[in-house]
Amino acid sequence: MSDSARHVALSAAMERMAPPGIRLGCRLIREGDEALLLPEEASALRARRPAARRASGAARALARHLLKNEGMADAIIGRSATGAPLWPPGVIGSLAHDDEMAVAAIARAADVPSVGIDVEPADPLPDDITALVFHDGDAVGGVEPMLSGRTLFSAKEAVYKAVHPLDGEILGYEHIRVDFARGRAVTTTGHGIRLFFCLHPRVVVLAVSTEDQPSSIL
Ligand SMILES: CC(C)(COP(=O)(O)OP(=O)(O)OC[C@H]1O[C@@H](n2cnc3c(N)ncnc32)[C@H](O)[C@@H]1OP(=O)(O)O)[C@@H](O)C(=O)NCCC(=O)NCCS
Repeated sequence: MSDSARHVALSAAMERMAPPGIRLGCRLIREGDEALLLPEEASALRARRPAARRASGAARALARHLLKNEGMADAIIGRSATGAPLWPPGVIGSLAHDDEMAVAAIARAADVPSVGIDVEPADPLPDDITALVFHDGDAVGGVEPMLSGRTLFSAKEAVYKAVHPLDGEILGYEHIRVDFARGRAVTTTGHGIRLFFCLHPRVVVLAVSTEDQPSSIL
């Protein structure tokens, strides 16, 4: 499959998985994408390696495009001291990138408390990493067995991104329980999460915090 066919296929898969009120998108990471960082964003990311700045540039250009579609032009997406993206007032969101693809999720803060997103290649997770990620209580039924470890890993990363900005707690894999069949996750710190995911052409997991339940989607 060509780069552009993979992009089209992932866009369609993410459109199907997106719950109401949350905008999702993906963008191939290309040479020179670091130039897409606005000056304020570039200064927050100056210390990073070129490949990481390129991926962050692709993710921020994508998120800016999603925000523009919601009527917010030229938004600056900064970076907090803990690494979380900083959104314009009234917006929440999340970014992720693997070696080839950047993904983003945005929503109105009035509708959704917090989101986290992750993207991974649709390849089996090595057994030694699966052993670190999987804990008693994780239920991976309902996900293609070859990709269950990879999807569990991605779900826990997405959950971490959704909940860390809420309370600053550093969580390990053992602090998050996932149930794919129910589309739910919980943390030992008391957060409830809804999960939305696709497996092909890449694994993408969206985690949506259910606290305060301000939205009809929760
Ligand atoms: C947040 C974290 C999970 C990101 O994972 P990653 O594989 O390095 O990178 P990803 O491409 O998936 O995501 C990167 C994006 O996550 C976002 N991010 C980073 N730290 C974040 C945080 N504390 N809260 C929310 N989002 C965060 C950023 O937008 C970042 O992109 P940017 O640097 O271009 O702005 C990881 O860096 C981390 O902090 N881990 C510590 C805790 C942990 O790993 N626990 C085990 C898993 S539960």
